[in-house]
Amino acid sequence: MKLSGKVVVVTGGASGQGEAACRLFAAEGASVVIADWNGAGAARVAAEIGGAAFTVDVSQEDQVAAMIAFACDRFGKLDVLFNNAGVGYSSTARFKMASIVDTPGDAWDAILGINLKGQAMGCKYAIPRMLENGGGSIINNASIMAIAGVPGADAYTAAKGGVIALTRTLAVEWAEKGIRVNCICPGTIETPMVGAITSDAERARLGESTPMKRVGQAEEIARAALFLASADSSYVNGVMLPVDGGWSAL
Ligand SMILES: NC(=O)c1ccc[n+]([C@@H]2O[C@H](COP(=O)([O-])OP(=O)(O)OC[C@H]3O[C@@H](n4cnc5c(N)ncnc54)[C@H](O)[C@@H]3O)[C@@H](O)[C@H]2O)c1
Repeated sequence: MKLSGKVVVVTGGASGQGEAACRLFAAEGASVVIADWNGAGAARVAAEIGGAAFTVDVSQEDQVAAMIAFACDRFGKLDVLFNNAGVGYSSTARFKMASIVDTPGDAWDAILGINLKGQAMGCKYAIPRMLENGGGSIINNASIMAIAGVPGADAYTAAKGGVIALTRTLAVEWAEKGIRVNCICPGTIETPMVGAITSDAERARLGESTPMKRVGQAEEIARAALFLASADSSYVNGVMLPVDGGWSAL
């Protein structure tokens, strides 16, 4: 049990990578807060794994503050934050992936608000509570699109690049106080986010473009998050860990 006695908040916990992380963290002994703006989805996962659901829009600072306070009130402390909630691979106009020349300013604000500000606010409110405990681990979910030039999703890519920069600066700033901050850069992962905009044939083509000749599964990101959450990574700080079947090594 790698997270026995630990209290963990997972944003975007109702689906995909976040849901897989909630399930794995709970199986490893953690008390898990499943936080998502899909409250019904969060409640479903909580009922199945025995955690606590919390409805939150991570782009809203007051709601993020309430999420962290909820976790501490409910379970007494905070050890781990998996800043995972994100949008971008969506067919809806508000979050459609597009080149900057086709991105309305309000879509830019909405995507940056969730994918970058949401993670920053998570850190802002988690760090003081982790300090009360002598430390903790923050895992931010970025993307390989932040480390390679992939046209056509510019607001998303910029937000994820910001996540990497934020990860590094916070890792340096808080290391002496016992808080480690790392990020994961997933490749193409088979989740509802990707399923919403790709056909089976397109996902097969995306898989073929990786050295391992397949897309990744949500559980493979969850296992990387578990490593970064647990004492197994006790000397790992400030890294961006690609979990992409070797795509970023091409
Ligand atoms: N799937 C991929 O190929 C891929 C690749 C690289 C990075 N990522 C990143 O991984 C993370 C998880 O994505 P996923 O693939 O599991 O997608 P997903 O759509 O299955 O899950 C995302 C979850 O985040 C929640 N969410 C979205 N906006 C929110 C908000 N404002 N407040 C609270 N919850 C919100 C959604 O309701 C959903 O439950 C995202 O940050 C995404 O950008 C995904």
